[in-house]
Amino acid sequence: MIVKDMSAAVENQRTVEIELVNGHGGADPRKWEDLFLPTPLKLENRLRAQKIEARLSKLMLCGSTLRRVGEVFEKEIEAGLRQQPSSLQMENTYVPELPDGTEEGSFLALDLGGTNFRVLFLELKAGQLLREKVKHYHINDALRLGPGEDLFNFLADCVQDFLVSQSIEKETFSLGFTFSFPMRQHSISSGELITWTKSFNCGGMDGVDVAALLQRCLSARSLDVTVRVLLNDTTGTLVAGAHIDRNVGIGVILGTGSNGCYMERASRVLHWERPHSAVHDVCIDIEWGAFGDNGCLDFLRTEFDDEVDAKSLLAASFTFEKYIGGKYLGDLLTFTLSALARDGLFPADPNFRKLQTSHVSLFEEESCAGEVSRTLSALREACNSDLLSTADALVAQYVAHVISNRAAQLVSVCISTLLKRMDRPYVAVAVDGSVFKHHPRIAKLMNKYIALLAPAHQFSLMIAEDGSGKGSALTAAIAARMATRGVARL
Ligand code: BGC
Repeated sequence: MIVKDMSAAVENQRTVEIELVNGHGGADPRKWEDLFLPTPLKLENRLRAQKIEARLSKLMLCGSTLRRVGEVFEKEIEAGLRQQPSSLQMENTYVPELPDGTEEGSFLALDLGGTNFRVLFLELKAGQLLREKVKHYHINDALRLGPGEDLFNFLADCVQDFLVSQSIEKETFSLGFTFSFPMRQHSISSGELITWTKSFNCGGMDGVDVAALLQRCLSARSLDVTVRVLLNDTTGTLVAGAHIDRNVGIGVILGTGSNGCYMERASRVLHWERPHSAVHDVCIDIEWGAFGDNGCLDFLRTEFDDEVDAKSLLAASFTFEKYIGGKYLGDLLTFTLSALARDGLFPADPNFRKLQTSHVSLFEEESCAGEVSRTLSALREACNSDLLSTADALVAQYVAHVISNRAAQLVSVCISTLLKRMDRPYVAVAVDGSVFKHHPRIAKLMNKYIALLAPAHQFSLMIAEDGSGKGSALTAAIAARMATRGVARL
C-alpha cells in the first residue's frame, strides 16, 4: 500500500504547502514556520488552554529548529561514514544488491528485536513468496536481562522446536538472522553487538559475534542450518520494500524502536574489510536511535524527555529513539500530563506505565473523530480517579497530538535529509513498525513534513510488511545469488 495515495486530501495539502515553501503566490515566510505547529488546543477555558500550550511549547518544534536538526544529522552522517566521532553508527551492512526477481529457494529466518521472537520458513520462487510458516516464541525477562549465552541457547531451542513441528529437522537450510540491535558488521554474515536497546540487556556479549554464537548453538543441537546473513530489521524492510517497488532506496522502522537505512554510494563509505571495487551502492544502517547521544541534540531536550530517559532500562543512551519510539511515547504522555498536574493544569497524575503508546494512538484517533469517551475512560483508569471531565480528555488528546507531531517531525527530518543526500529523481521509502501502522495520523504528518523539509524531492512512503521475515529470506537469497555468480563475499 502506498500511503501517499491513501488520501487525496493529504496530497492536496502537500501541494499547497509546497507552494508556500517555494514562495509561490507571494507567501509570507512566517507561514512556512506555522505549518509545523500542532493543531491548537480548543477549550472553553481559554486561559487554561493558553497556559497548557505555553507549558508544552518546548515540545513544539518550528521549521527552522527542524532545519537545524537536519544540518546536525547530515554532519553526523558524514562523520560516521568517515569513522570519526559521531552519534550515528553508519554501519556498512555489506548488502550491495536489492531483489531483482530471481530469488529462489527455501530459507529459515529468525527475527529478534521485540518481546516476541519469531522463527520463519519461507519458500521463494522467481522472487515471489510461495509458502511461509511462522512460529512466535515469548522471551521472558530472565532471558532478556540474563546472560547472552542463555538467550542464544533459547533461540536455538526455538529453531529446533520449529523444525520438529514442521517435520523438517533433518533438512539443510540457509538462515537469515534479523538481529534488530546496533552491530559492528564485519561481513554480510558476521557482526558484534554494540549495545542492547529497547527491553534487552543481556550480559557477557562484549566483542561476541552474534552470528557465530547462534551458529554454535545451532550446531550443538546437530541442526544442519547455516547462518548465511546477519541483518538489521531496517535492512530487511528496505529489501522487502525493494521487492515490491524497485525505486525503494530508504528503509525505516517506526515501532518499539526506530531506525533507518539507505543505499549509499560505496565510494562514500570508509569501513570495508574486503575488496569492494565492483560495488556501486551499499546499504548503510544508520542507527539513528542513538542520534544525539553525544549531546549534539541537547537543544531539543525537554524536562519530559529527561524523565523518560531516567525511567528507561538503558538511561543516557538512545536519545533520539526516546523521542519517537513506541517503547517511550506512552511514558512521554504520562510525564507530560504529570507535569501539567503539578502546575494545577490537569486534575490527576497518571500512574506510571498505565498509559502506553497504544493510548497515544487511541487519543489521536478519538481526537480525529471528535470523540472523547474512550479517552476519558482510559484516563480515569490510568489516574485511578473519577474526577476527570471532557475538557481534561481534550487536554490529554492535545498532549498526545503534540508528542506525536514532534515524533513525526523528527523522523521526517531524517528522511528528508536522506532524500537530499541521495538526490535521485524519486525515492520510495519502505516503512514498517507498530507506530507507523497503528498511529492514525503519523503517515499523514510524515508526508506533510517531509514535503516541507525536502520540497524539491519526490518521494512516497510505503508500508513494507515483515521486512524482518521476508526481507531476511530475500537477503539470504541475494547472498546465495551473488555466491553463484562468483562474487566474492564482501
Ligand atoms: C535498534 C535498531 C533497530 C530499531 C528498530 C533500535 O533500538 O538499535 O537496530 O533497527 O530499534 O527495531
